[in-house]
Parts: sequence; C-alpha cells; structure tokens
Amino acid sequence: MSNISVITSGTSGIGRAIVKKILAESAEGDRVIVNYGHSDQAAEDLKNELPEKQRERLTLVKADLSDYDAMMEFAGKVKEMTDHIDWLVLNTGIGTYVPYDEYTFELWNHIINTNLSIPAFLVRELKPHMAEYGNILFMGSQAGQQPYSSSLVYSVSKAGVLHMAKCLVKFFDDRRVSVNAIAPGFIETRWQKDRTDESYERINRKIAAHRFGTPEEVASLCFAVLSNDYLNGSVYEVTGGYDYF
Ligand SMILES: NC(=O)c1ccc[n+]([C@@H]2O[C@H](COP(=O)([O-])OP(=O)(O)OC[C@H]3O[C@@H](n4cnc5c(N)ncnc54)[C@H](OP(=O)(O)O)[C@@H]3O)[C@@H](O)[C@H]2O)c1
Repeated sequence: MSNISVITSGTSGIGRAIVKKILAESAEGDRVIVNYGHSDQAAEDLKNELPEKQRERLTLVKADLSDYDAMMEFAGKVKEMTDHIDWLVLNTGIGTYVPYDEYTFELWNHIINTNLSIPAFLVRELKPHMAEYGNILFMGSQAGQQPYSSSLVYSVSKAGVLHMAKCLVKFFDDRRVSVNAIAPGFIETRWQKDRTDESYERINRKIAAHRFGTPEEVASLCFAVLSNDYLNGSVYEVTGGYDYF
C-alpha cells in the first residue's frame, strides 16, 4: 500500500524540511498532502524546487489552521483526497514576544487555539482515516518542557502539545497508531530573524553543540520517528544539548 502523509504548515522552516525529507525518501504511489496558511509564494517555491517525480507526489492545500471552520474544511478535503493516512504531522505553531503584562485575552486564545486546540480537533477529525500502524507526530518545543518566560503562552501551549501526544496514545490503540512528539530547541528558521548577535552568542554558550540547529536536523529526527513503529507515547528532543553550560 502506498504511503500517504499529511503535514500541516509544511511550506517553510521545519515543516518544509520534513516535507522534503519525506519526498526524498518516497516511492512510486506515495503522496504527501501539505497544508500552508498564507504564503502562496512559499508554496510555489517549494513545488518548483522539487525534482519532477517528487513534485507529482505533492498536493498543496491552503487553509488557515488558526480557525476552526477552516480546519474542518481542510479535514474534509483531506478525506476526499485519500481513503487512508499513514503519517500525520501536526507542525503548526505560532508564538509571541508580547510581554505577559500586555497580553489580551484574544492574543492568548489565538495562540492556544492555533498551537493546541485546532491540532486536537484536526487529529480527532482525521482519526477514522488513520491507517493501521500509522503514526501521528506533534511538533512541540523544548519551551514546553521547561519554563520559557520570554513567551509564556507559547511555552504553556507547547507543554500542552507534548502532554496531548502522550494522552492520545490510548485513543489510537485499537488500530495500533503511534503518537509521539518532537521537542526542538533553537532552530534556524525565520523565527530567529530578529535575534541580535548578542542573543545568539548568549544562547549558543548554553548549547553543548554551540550553535542553533537546522530544519534538516529536526526533519531527519521526525523521519526516524515516523518510520519506527516501536516508538509510541514519547517526546524526542533535538536541542544540541541545552543547558549543559
Ligand atoms: N524554529 C525554532 O526554533 C522552533 C523551536 C521549537 C519548535 N518550533 C516549532 O516548529 C514549528 C514550525 O516552526 P518554524 O520554526 O519552522 O517556523 P516558520 O518557518 O515560521 O514556519 C511556520 C509555518 O507555519 C505556517 N503557519 C503560520 N500560521 C498558520 C496558520 N494559521 N495556518 C496554517 N499554517 C500556518 C506558516 O505558513 P504561512 O506563512 O503560509 O502561513 C509556515 O509555513 C512550530 O510548531 C514551532 O513552534 C520551532
């Protein structure tokens, strides 16, 4: 049976690297359904970069996954496109550096909805479509494992994501679907674009590898977890060894 993957927010940064890794390892008949939220240009660029055979296996679906109705519409489209899903990757995640004292209730809800609530309902919506021995992978964060006061709501949402991955294991037991999560540390994507040299240096001093990770390094761990049916209910860190110094 061909391998069908669904990845949310897969046209830039870590998601894009995951999509490219899965496509690079794909075979005839495999399909990779990739969601993105806003940038048609990023979606087009991803498509154009791929070798022809891989491009044929890619389907791009635009949907704003901060919105419940748009998520339901996306889930409906996925169900029309395929009768089963082998790998489901929930990669969407947004943050804010607005200080806690200045949060609005709307901002809090927007981030919790996008990072935690919408993925929970998307997984439930696609649950009947998960293939036996399929794999679900959530993109958490190291910020969900230790207090990250620079972005309280982000940290809390990612803690929820990591816990959700574990809590969902029992709900997928009937078809032996695995549920795991990844917890990256500081990864070189556009999230870091406003960081000063001083900030890079301060963080690099705390990382045993003394550098930020690449999206490809995260993607290679994601692929290893998705490919290994004996991994279940766990969180896999990819941090370069954080807080050793
Ligand atoms: N970079 C890090 O250091 C780091 C560390 C730990 C965890 N993470 C996690 O890794 C994941 C990816 O982050 P990244 O660093 O790769 O960031 P990124 O390069 O900014 O990618 C974020 C992606 O999210 C999409 N997106 C944003 N809002 C969306 C929405 N409402 N609906 C659907 N898609 C939406 C964006 O697509 P559009 O622009 O088209 O909307 C983009 O493809 C996130 O869950 C993040 O929390 C990142």
